[in-house]
Amino acid sequence: MKTQQLPWYMNAMFYEVHIRAFCDSTGDGNGDIPGLISKLDYIKQLGIDCIWILPMFSSPLKDDGYDIADYYNIHPDYGTIDDFKQLVNEAHHRGLKIISDLVLNHTSDQHPWFQKSRSEADSKYRDYYVWSHTDDKYSDARIIFLDTEKSNWSYDDQAGMYYWHRFYSSQPDLNYDNPDVIEEMQQVMKFWLDMGIDGFRADAVPYLIQREGTNCENLPETHQILKGFRAFMNDHYEGKILLAEANQWPEDVREYFGDGDEFHMGFHFPVMPRIFMAIRKGDASPIHWIMSKTPDIPDNTQWCTFLRNHDELTLEMVTEEERQWMWEEYAPDPRMRLNLGIRRRLAPLLDNDHQKILLANALLYSLPGAPIIYYGDEIGMGDNIWLPDRNGVRTPMQWDDSPNAGFSTANQNELYAPVITTGAYSYKRLNVSAGLSDPNSLLHKMRHLVEVRKTHPIFASGNYKFLAVDQTECLVILREYQGQKVICILNLSDKNQMITLNLPDDRDKILIDIVHNSKFRHIKSDQTTIATDAYEFLWLKISN
Ligand code: BGC
Repeated sequence: MKTQQLPWYMNAMFYEVHIRAFCDSTGDGNGDIPGLISKLDYIKQLGIDCIWILPMFSSPLKDDGYDIADYYNIHPDYGTIDDFKQLVNEAHHRGLKIISDLVLNHTSDQHPWFQKSRSEADSKYRDYYVWSHTDDKYSDARIIFLDTEKSNWSYDDQAGMYYWHRFYSSQPDLNYDNPDVIEEMQQVMKFWLDMGIDGFRADAVPYLIQREGTNCENLPETHQILKGFRAFMNDHYEGKILLAEANQWPEDVREYFGDGDEFHMGFHFPVMPRIFMAIRKGDASPIHWIMSKTPDIPDNTQWCTFLRNHDELTLEMVTEEERQWMWEEYAPDPRMRLNLGIRRRLAPLLDNDHQKILLANALLYSLPGAPIIYYGDEIGMGDNIWLPDRNGVRTPMQWDDSPNAGFSTANQNELYAPVITTGAYSYKRLNVSAGLSDPNSLLHKMRHLVEVRKTHPIFASGNYKFLAVDQTECLVILREYQGQKVICILNLSDKNQMITLNLPDDRDKILIDIVHNSKFRHIKSDQTTIATDAYEFLWLKISN
């Protein structure tokens, strides 16, 4: 297959934005859609292809918008449907795609469907949710929000029954055994796709169906429903994508790609904590291990990879021992821990060490998949562990050193969350404007890395193979595509390492450093020895 025939998402760079946190155009202390529109040029110059926006729908915000009260309306803090249409047009005008969250599994308890479901036993809405006279069904299903919820069932006084919820009790699960629910969701998809969005990040997809005697995750019936949504997209919306949020082991996520007839993309959750493990331990083996457990996926489907997002750094896909180790190393203060994860941002996790931050990104970009950058991580933003829930990694974007970081003209106490004002992460020194004007900033280096990755489609479509080296501290990945080769060398340790590569087929060829765009080495014999500094990475193209 020729590179130019690849579907757009295969080689895309994604950027995750929380509208509330990005830019406030009205001065009410909340980011909004016109604010995001005003920053599209910034996102574009970063080298981004597609923006993923967190839920922007009407919501009582018990779960920051993942509790939807009306799928057909925009939260008034964010603007109007017309603003949203303008956002889509302005994004497209700049060659940017835009996908939104699609929260399939549950609604808010304030949604009219649930209001009727609980109060009108005879209405069709009763069967829109999962009700039971007892709270002991599906007892093999785990509790996800462990720090707040004691059960997946909550009692509702009005209905006189228990309702099922995998997340907060204010988020009752929809009943996907009911075809009307499937039809409703298809209508929701249609509404937003007709407005021009380029697809959805489908939230919490493993949990749609419950069956006794199972853990109620990844069930065949769930896959059937999702395949139905995909068929609907195929029929009417060619080129638009479905991205699966299935926080599962790779062999289970593999099922969400189906035979190329389910999701176009799926997050690779388990590789993420292992990148942090590998860098802290100075040991490539966690990456070798998880990639050895990662099956091939169908043509024209793609992994979506990330280092951080709007949630806690999840430690669900590691062993109990690894989880303890990650908590000790990366979340020494109990405030940094939440559920089975760590509520910190990328820069603080990596000691604000730009070399390590770039190494982590380079590692991510060296692996198969289309990467996502979480807003603010490109400048190395900090977090605020004292805010509740996951709010500490959702603080206002730091644009410049003016009051409120240039995010909003509201009074400080009217902001939806405080800006970061202290220490190395204070907006006074760490902001987009400072990053743009300093040629050595993390922002410039990230932008360059993104550009290099994107101008080499080998990263998106090529095969990958780990090359054996004696130093377990180094990860060496060979990417190959249509006779082209790039060797990615990542020194994960805090010491210099000399590695020897066996390249008998490439004798007399030249290694080109594609990050610095310079000749690196003439390969004179079957073996070549390369010196790397602590936490250094090299992307070397083999050229004639
Ligand atoms: C989202 C979370 C949200 C949960 C429930 C997740 O997977 O990423 O932010 O709380 O779904 O909707």
